[in-house]
Amino acid sequence: MEVIRDAGFDELLALCGGCCSCATCHVHIEAGPTDALAAMSEDENDLLDSSSHRGSQSRLSCQLPITDALDGLRVKIAPED
Ligand code: FES
Repeated sequence: MEVIRDAGFDELLALCGGCCSCATCHVHIEAGPTDALAAMSEDENDLLDSSSHRGSQSRLSCQLPITDALDGLRVKIAPED
């Protein structure tokens, strides 16, 4: 989430600041090393269920620590609910 915002994408609201309580940092994983993504927690899964734009590749970007292993990961910001 911070990487996206630092890159200047204001569409990613991230209203709770990364506390996993708002789901406004919802992204769809499009390509890249998805095996290296952090596992989804129950809280993240529950929050994503509240989105009408949830898909099989949905994640909350604030729950994805960026490491070198994620080099090449491509995400798309989900439409706002
Ligand atoms: S910034 Fe609120 S859930 Fe990710």
